[in-house]
Amino acid sequence: MRWPTKGLSFGGDYSPEQWSWDVVLEDIDLMHEAGVNLVTLGVFSWVIHEPRDGHFDFSWLDRMLDLLSDNGIGVDLATPTAAVPMWLHRLHPEILPQDTHGHPLAPGGRLGWCPSSPVFRTYALRIVERLAEHAAGHPALRMWHVSNELGGGNARCHCPISNARFREWLAAKYRTVTALNAAWGMSFWGNTYSSFEEVTTPWGITAHNPGHLLDYERFSSDELLAHFRAEKDVLRRLTPDVPITTNFMVGLGPDVVDYTRWAGEMDIVANDHYTFGPDPLKHEDLAFSGDRMRGMSGGRPWMLMEHAAGAGSWHPINQPKVPGEISRHAIAHLARGSDSVMFFQWRASTSGTEQFHSAMVPHAGPDSAVFRDVIALGRQVAALAEVQGSIVEPADVALLHDNEAGWALRSGLKPMNGHGYADTARAIHNALFERAVTTDIVPPWADLDRYRLVVIPGLFLLSDENAQAVQAYVESGGTVLITWFSGVVDERNAVRRGGYPGLLRSVTGSLSEELFPLDGQDAVRLDNGWTGRRWMERMRAPQHAGVETVASYADGAYAGEPAITRRRTGAGTAWYLSTDLDAASLGELVDRVLSETQIRPTAVVAPGVEAVRRASSDASYLFLINHADVDGWAQASGTDLLTGHEHSELVSLPPGAVAVLREHTPQR
Ligand code: GAL
Repeated sequence: MRWPTKGLSFGGDYSPEQWSWDVVLEDIDLMHEAGVNLVTLGVFSWVIHEPRDGHFDFSWLDRMLDLLSDNGIGVDLATPTAAVPMWLHRLHPEILPQDTHGHPLAPGGRLGWCPSSPVFRTYALRIVERLAEHAAGHPALRMWHVSNELGGGNARCHCPISNARFREWLAAKYRTVTALNAAWGMSFWGNTYSSFEEVTTPWGITAHNPGHLLDYERFSSDELLAHFRAEKDVLRRLTPDVPITTNFMVGLGPDVVDYTRWAGEMDIVANDHYTFGPDPLKHEDLAFSGDRMRGMSGGRPWMLMEHAAGAGSWHPINQPKVPGEISRHAIAHLARGSDSVMFFQWRASTSGTEQFHSAMVPHAGPDSAVFRDVIALGRQVAALAEVQGSIVEPADVALLHDNEAGWALRSGLKPMNGHGYADTARAIHNALFERAVTTDIVPPWADLDRYRLVVIPGLFLLSDENAQAVQAYVESGGTVLITWFSGVVDERNAVRRGGYPGLLRSVTGSLSEELFPLDGQDAVRLDNGWTGRRWMERMRAPQHAGVETVASYADGAYAGEPAITRRRTGAGTAWYLSTDLDAASLGELVDRVLSETQIRPTAVVAPGVEAVRRASSDASYLFLINHADVDGWAQASGTDLLTGHEHSELVSLPPGAVAVLREHTPQR
């Protein structure tokens, strides 16, 4: 499907329904000034298109589509199903999702609908159909934006309809209640079902069965995906050539719905990403989500649908971006494979829930530092037009990430409750990021053969099939770095017998018998001078199985016993890390693994400089971003597309500087 704009897309969510016509006309002028070429329109406009049940009025839409297209601005048109009209709530209060106490949520806000509600689906598809019939063929229509952040508020519903649908979903999956009982281990606490009719969504009383909770997460994701597909089918039928997407909320994960399994349904995969002002690692958080998006798009360009020009408003404190950050963050998304820079939102609202959320045009108006930064960014995006369609250079490192593993981890009681599924993944990703090594974050079923190193960080759940794929990868010469609490359960969320990391024992040769979380700030020393935190495992590392103990615990309950092992398996190597190393120790481990696998950085750069390469058939582009507050540099040669400067051999990068080089010698 065609990309919605010529060159990179630049713009944001646009809500002209909040403004008088004179403001709208000013918006168009300002959009020209900033170089906006795409806006997302109509996200919350259902009540405008259908002010009363069955009465449709697209005059506002026509006016906006005409105005935008007359001014050369394309439209990513939203189906308005995130914004249920109040008249529909009054007519059908039963569409509201119910919480774990069986209480319906109040109307208002957004996404106030149960994903399984047939009544809501009927109304939703009717407005989608009328909208698509109306907008089909309009020159402004470049893309469809289905609803908004599906699941952001309505992902888990416990109403009677959801309960009935959950039972149907389970019956389709397990066929017999005996199979369901076996899968979830319902003999524990004597919870055995005698009929599917006895099953409910998991709510209330004591802690729930881990298999039950995990299946409910899967079910909830599937119900929303069914909704997406229903809308998509209507849009595809009426506008077969217009690309269709919905905006994901991909961050560290696990996600609210299983985006990794949804991604194949999108013509273009799109994401909303928000950093948290005071987070010292926000640039790496951004890179983590970008690397996940690329993993979901199969390496093809993806779309940054929303990010912020400044502060959000949902954290306890909400800080604007510091000078230079607007451009740095936007270009960092481009570096990792986005072909767009889109914001929420164009103009800051004065009323409503998000009245203090930042925007491209802030409350202060166009005579403001933010809008000047937006204009400057628009010029940068235009200068990078030729990058559109290029792809991020294939990475040597894959990091396995699976929402189901994260859901399984938070489903049920664990030796350590409440630790983040992605904590270890992020620590290792950060170590690689600091070494200018690009990482593809991919699901465990991805093709691993093209990677020199596969990191398996705290991947709690691993299926038989995916474990076999890891084994085949190592035997044929790959290197894996497996960390604590990986491979522990199967797809039923049942613990694999025989020791941790479950089936991956076949590659590690070592196994852990016991899991020993540490209290708070407690640390444990290793005999090579490294430091572990949070977690230890009582390991067996049999030499006769070819296992080498790289480091042992030097103190604590397991003093003298192995902490890190390494084994040649077939033609490859498997590392096992049984504790959560602190950043310095982890960095040394990563250095050793990178040097053994001969993985080189994208470019030789000073500390704090991010380096990512994108390549097309005839050019390569080196993105360099200095996130540090000291002078940086990179060894590289090329023409900086942002300034026109020629660089040979060394690029100096003052604090916060960005350069995008078309390299003199294309690297592919
Ligand atoms: C997104 C959402 C937008 C807006 C934005 C800022 O999650 O799609 O509509 O709410 O966050 O909070």
